[in-house]
Amino acid sequence: MTELVIITDDGPVRTVRMNRPDKKNALTLAMYDAMAAAIETAPKNPALRCLLIAGTPTAFCAGNDIGDFLKMATGEGALGTPILRFLYTLARCELPLIAAVQGNAIGVGTTMLMHCDHVVAGSEARFSTPFVGLGLVPEAGSSLLAPRLMGHARAFSLLVMGRPLSADDAKAAGLINRVVAAEAVEAEAMKAAREIAALPPQGVLASRRLMRGSPDEIVARIDEEAELFKTRLGSAEARAAFEAFMMRKR
Ligand code: COA
Repeated sequence: MTELVIITDDGPVRTVRMNRPDKKNALTLAMYDAMAAAIETAPKNPALRCLLIAGTPTAFCAGNDIGDFLKMATGEGALGTPILRFLYTLARCELPLIAAVQGNAIGVGTTMLMHCDHVVAGSEARFSTPFVGLGLVPEAGSSLLAPRLMGHARAFSLLVMGRPLSADDAKAAGLINRVVAAEAVEAEAMKAAREIAALPPQGVLASRRLMRGSPDEIVARIDEEAELFKTRLGSAEARAAFEAFMMRKR
């Protein structure tokens, strides 16, 4: 069976690659768990100094698997512990997080980037968070992080109105650092990771901690969002939106 998350350690950089291209890298509970484990264990290996999150050439990540959302909406599954584990792990991650984005970054595909320190995207990349249109609310601490990153007006347009950002818009909004040709994304992201890894490691960690402050505030917001998210998942609005997506090709 194909591995849905591929972990590769190359010198000081651990790459965590979402690898479910047939579903545009929509995340299943097992994928959240595998990604969380890869991020949690990295600081225990002194050779590792940076984490690089990547997708596949046709998609970065299409968000949570909507089939799983539908199961949660119909009471067949709960808002999984692996999702919260992954979100806490992002918020509490000590090592610098780099991301390489090709194609669509949707839902958590975009909100995970708000926890990253350096994001490289292809010129065709597109960022969107259609939570409200799906009857949901923003997650992953994005209701706190997005207004901080890009100001309330742009965050509202993205998170509430669901308007997508092009790669250039995302750069102007401060969500990403660099826009390059799609085929150069991975190499540019790895170059940045190696550049960070070559700096004095304790200096990097201490500076990052100072800049980010305590993760407790973000974790508290993740919990607050998750409570509302659970309620919204059970709403008729959300269920209808998930069913419409699942049925759209039939
Ligand atoms: N959950 C489950 N399956 C998903 C998915 C998701 N979030 N996103 C894509 N897929 C699946 C599609 O159902 C399709 O499966 P199929 O081939 O078995 O029919 C496959 O991935 C390819 O997607 P498709 O829609 O055919 O590709 P596209 O290039 O036309 O569009 C997207 C790609 C990502 C724009 C589109 O699939 C989409 O909008 N996905 C939903 C994104 C979303 O709302 N995520 C939730 C955020 S909270």
